[in-house]
Amino acid sequence: MKINAKDLSRIVSKYHDEKSSLIAVLQDVQEEYHWLPPEALRFVSEKLCIPLIDVYSVATFYRAFSLTPRGEHVVTVCLGTACHVRGAPLVLDRIRNRLRVEPGCTTGDGKFTLESVNCLGACALAPIVVVDGKYHGQTTVKKAAQIIEEYHTKRPKKRVTRRRKK
Ligand code: FES
Repeated sequence: MKINAKDLSRIVSKYHDEKSSLIAVLQDVQEEYHWLPPEALRFVSEKLCIPLIDVYSVATFYRAFSLTPRGEHVVTVCLGTACHVRGAPLVLDRIRNRLRVEPGCTTGDGKFTLESVNCLGACALAPIVVVDGKYHGQTTVKKAAQIIEEYHTKRPKKRVTRRRKK
């Protein structure tokens, strides 16, 4: 994958090239590419003077980081007990059929990654679908279809990177 060294330099320098900012740097890199490309991890390793193996240790430790390409939108369906008994498997089936992708995979156009989890800790809202970090509670099969249609036309949110004033 082709990475943009200028963008990565901007991200690293935003944190003043500090080793202790590794997690924040990786979060920004993931936001830029929707995953952590190996070339980007090498770049971060060199810029922060952190051994590549340590960068990978952090990148693989946190579930929020992905070492495989992810879609522009990440759809997570909770299949924990509370969500399961309130219809989450049907909701997942609807989304799976609409996107034509299995959980853990990304659509061919790179637009969506579908994931499933076992409890998001908000069981009162079951069943829950999370898209790009936004919780959609008490999701029905019909509502799930509407949510996916909504994100089909939506661009992913991009965090504003503030530059330091000189
Ligand atoms: S089981 Fe889905 S949020 Fe707890």
